Amino acid sequence: MNIEIIGYGLAQAEKCVTNLDLSKSVDTNDAWIQERTGIKQRYFSVAKNTSDLASEAALMAIQDAQIDPKTIDLILVATITPDGMMPSVASLVQAKCGLNAQTCLSYDINAACTGFVVAMQNAQAMLEAGYVSNALVIGAETLSKILDFKDRTTSVLFGDGAGAIIMRRSSSKKMFHYLRSEGDLTGVLTSDGLSLNPEMVFDQSSTHYLRMQGQAVFRFAVKAIEDVLVNLLNKQDLKVDQIDWIVPHQANRRIIEYVANKMNIELTKFYLNLDQYGNTSSASIPIALSEMRTKGLLKEGMRVICVGFGAGLTWGGSYFES
Ligand code: ACO
Repeated sequence: MNIEIIGYGLAQAEKCVTNLDLSKSVDTNDAWIQERTGIKQRYFSVAKNTSDLASEAALMAIQDAQIDPKTIDLILVATITPDGMMPSVASLVQAKCGLNAQTCLSYDINAACTGFVVAMQNAQAMLEAGYVSNALVIGAETLSKILDFKDRTTSVLFGDGAGAIIMRRSSSKKMFHYLRSEGDLTGVLTSDGLSLNPEMVFDQSSTHYLRMQGQAVFRFAVKAIEDVLVNLLNKQDLKVDQIDWIVPHQANRRIIEYVANKMNIELTKFYLNLDQYGNTSSASIPIALSEMRTKGLLKEGMRVICVGFGAGLTWGGSYFES
């Protein structure tokens, strides 16, 4: 069955923080960050939690799709930084946006930076099975909640934000996915949750800060992107020249340059906005898509591949026709 994306939206967090701003509180500098990552600035949330950003992006996508909000019957939010353990961010979005169709189902997905393409695949499966008609698929993060601002190796890389799309069945537009995970390297990218409490005492100590072995992640990322591109292209016997845009998870410009060079793909085929947002994990792909839509870069019938990779380790991609 065919699937199309009919609406796009994004939300920026309130506070723009430049590399220079960060260098006032942690031992780093603009030249190092730009040279190693391509990042110039990022947005951090001041008062908006993940569900607020997600709702803002959702409302923009609904408006773009020009559909009656009551017809949305599936809300999926990919996130690793939910407002709380429960309810899900998706349920909070349902409440905040007034999406209270009797038949609506909402839940969150945690597949780290691959989360958004996993959510797209889940939504497609639900649409194809006939369980739902209009799926609101969101990637939303407030990663600043889990950044250790004393750790220069991680705090300079990430940002907050949200992006959203509306998916529905289509008469002609193809969509397909390739998703993988591998549990042997869980330790290279982590953020711990609540501790067990065998003594039944009140204890607020926490080790939730994001920790990353940067070089191990870099080595994994370049292999993952190539694996996704090769498998998605092979699935439909497509050549990379037939693809109009590759929208990668926006982690690091050097990762993309490495892959482009290795696979002999022109860098201009990759849509990059990480200089403005930093790495927003699950939100980076839908933010990029929404920005492309606003700029008129997603023309009718264009072939697009999105590629995610991240903690788990997880990696995967989605092909769609705009
Ligand atoms: N400012 C200045 N110096 C720094 C900083 C900083 N912010 N961070 C590290 N350094 C120093 C290190 O201490 C080290 O100094 P030393 O040589 O005196 O020991 C030097 O810079 C080099 O450090 P490396 O870790 O070797 O730097 P590298 O070139 O590997 O770049 C980076 C680090 C940018 C993290 C890189 O490894 C990378 O991009 N990895 C992939 C990360 C990624 O993509 N993560 C996200 C994917 S999954 C997800 O999105 C959740």
